[in-house]
Amino acid sequence: MTRDKIRLGIIGCGGIARGRHITGLTQLKRAGLDNFEVTAVCDTVEENVSAAAQYLQREQGANPEPFSDWQECLTRAPVDAVDICLPHGLHHVVGIAALEAGLHVVVEKPYTVTVKTGRQLAETADRTGKVLATAVPHRRMPGQRAVHWAINEGRLIGQPRMFFTEYTQWRPPPAPPSARAPSQTGAQSGAPAGPARTNWRHDRMMGGGAGVIDSGFHFLDTIRYFYGQPETVYAELRAFGPDGPAMRGAQIAEERENAAVIMISFENGVAGTWCWSFQIPGKETRNSVIYGSEGSIEDTGYSDRFSVYHLFMHVGELRRLDGTILSLGELEGRMRREIGPDRVQRLFPNGVTDHFATELWDFLDAVEHNRKPEVDGWGGLATTALVESIYESAYSGQAVKVADVLSGQTYHGWQRDIDDYWSQRPAPKLTRRAS
Ligand SMILES: NC(=O)c1ccc[n+]([C@@H]2O[C@H](COP(=O)([O-])OP(=O)(O)OC[C@H]3O[C@@H](n4cnc5c(N)ncnc54)[C@H](O)[C@@H]3O)[C@@H](O)[C@H]2O)c1
Repeated sequence: MTRDKIRLGIIGCGGIARGRHITGLTQLKRAGLDNFEVTAVCDTVEENVSAAAQYLQREQGANPEPFSDWQECLTRAPVDAVDICLPHGLHHVVGIAALEAGLHVVVEKPYTVTVKTGRQLAETADRTGKVLATAVPHRRMPGQRAVHWAINEGRLIGQPRMFFTEYTQWRPPPAPPSARAPSQTGAQSGAPAGPARTNWRHDRMMGGGAGVIDSGFHFLDTIRYFYGQPETVYAELRAFGPDGPAMRGAQIAEERENAAVIMISFENGVAGTWCWSFQIPGKETRNSVIYGSEGSIEDTGYSDRFSVYHLFMHVGELRRLDGTILSLGELEGRMRREIGPDRVQRLFPNGVTDHFATELWDFLDAVEHNRKPEVDGWGGLATTALVESIYESAYSGQAVKVADVLSGQTYHGWQRDIDDYWSQRPAPKLTRRAS
């Protein structure tokens, strides 16, 4: 790096950028992790740009240059790196253009909308030599760090064997996008407000699917983090409407799945289920447990429906055959003592535990020290292959090997029209006019 600080641009100033990214960046600065400055903000919605800019000015003393066009931003903004918080379908387009323009990139989950587009993005990072990070925050929460340690290093449940994750609930079907009230922006208090979110999630080319690819990307990254390389997937997805027949198989491509029964096996022998629906009336079920040869770890945060996507956010319990019971908090304490202060500092730099702050810090530190981030493009692609294995299995009614979906050998049709759409809209080659 030639300058003192990494100049960061934020592209897409919607819910997550304003609610968690820029607030996470403030937490970093307050903790003395101050190797960056936000120098540009970009969004097609002017109010989102100005809300983000005002917050950054007030909380970080920044004076970011506003842009409404991401190509202008990549060409003219005074930045070394960009944080892409855009709709899913734009992740690879803007990511590739940014890398080609010589910028480092962190891209929000779900990395990309297909395996093919994700491979193009990862290959571009390799070719340009720039840092590419996939933003997957939940593995960085103290709870998931502790469970990962307990399974893989502490070996507190012996040989991991199975997991069962299910959540069923009746929620009234969401109103059509146009009838929705403006969303409350800002997941954290003090986050800058702005207008309603857009409805791109209902567009298959932009969203890539529903729960499996969106919030589900978090769960799928977590199980890769816990158990390693996935092997085989069999998935049944459904779209239940209020009155009509249940959509399934290839029809799911025309609908948004709202129910899933999925079995996943791993190369290390672990097998598990991930089953959920928020459109099933009557009895509710909540269950999320990991079993090993010597015990179990349960996520007991059942009050939060997101527990089926975001494991071990709050509370949990480890039980061993020898009668030991540890809360998730006790487990975290044990991890911290056993891994020692240097590794604790790497996981929670200067005591920061907010998972959005630490994921951005990992990226910024990777840029500063020219190292790989914890989850790079290939790591993002590995989870995308698991996402698309679920969709390709549900589409075809067959079990699929994740390695075959990753290599492109299995391509039953789910991804085809999305790939066709984006192949006609390739990333533009941009020449930067800014230094
Ligand atoms: N890590 C998490 O827990 C988490 C949570 C929510 C969302 N996300 C991810 O963050 C990303 C954004 O989601 P969101 O919920 O903030 O959506 P959002 O709709 O609130 O924000 C997207 C923003 O992008 C802007 N935009 C759209 N097209 C644009 C374009 N061509 N040029 C410039 N700006 C454009 C929109 O105006 C909007 O402000 C998605 O990838 C989503 O999956 C992650």
